Amino acid sequence: MRVVVFFSGTGTNLKSILDHQNEYGYVVCSCFTNNPKAEGLIFCEEHKVNCKIIDHKDFNNREEYDGLINSFLENLNPDLIVLAGYMRIMSKSLVDNWEGQIVNIHPSLLPKYPGLHTHQRALKAKDKVHGSTIHFVTSELDAGPIIRQESFEIESSDTTESLIKKVKNLEHKIYPETISLLLK
Ligand code: GRF
Repeated sequence: MRVVVFFSGTGTNLKSILDHQNEYGYVVCSCFTNNPKAEGLIFCEEHKVNCKIIDHKDFNNREEYDGLINSFLENLNPDLIVLAGYMRIMSKSLVDNWEGQIVNIHPSLLPKYPGLHTHQRALKAKDKVHGSTIHFVTSELDAGPIIRQESFEIESSDTTESLIKKVKNLEHKIYPETISLLLK
């Protein structure tokens, strides 16, 4: 089963997905990033996985940019497209072309806190629990059908930084596991 991983930054979820390939029996056949300086590129090098880099800053037009992504995907024809910290909104036509095959992980208990700054928003709202959600991608931001959610209790000592760490630890476990289940 062939997986493509999209990322934009640190790529710790990408690392975990790559590290668990043998254990869960999927193959990351390629990666994609919009950010030529993404720290996660190092993990592609370490695992000798090709990463297609197309800098979104070189394009004014989202349709044109996403058209290139669509061609890249058509060439690969992957079983699953995994967004792991990919910080670009995909156009409706791209999402529609791959409906049911694109998944995302979002650092909140959706439908709470779609968008950015989820940890700060959970703290500000004095939430008792926080967590992460894996969902199918639709053209509505962070609103596609939920596949899996995991949560933990927020402690009084928690800060934005500690919540980021706790959520990521959780994600590194559930994302590879869920990918393998989706491909069965
Ligand atoms: C993760 O917390 C994920 O939920 C969100 O972006 C973050 C990516 O982190 N979509 P990393 O790049 O995998 O370290």
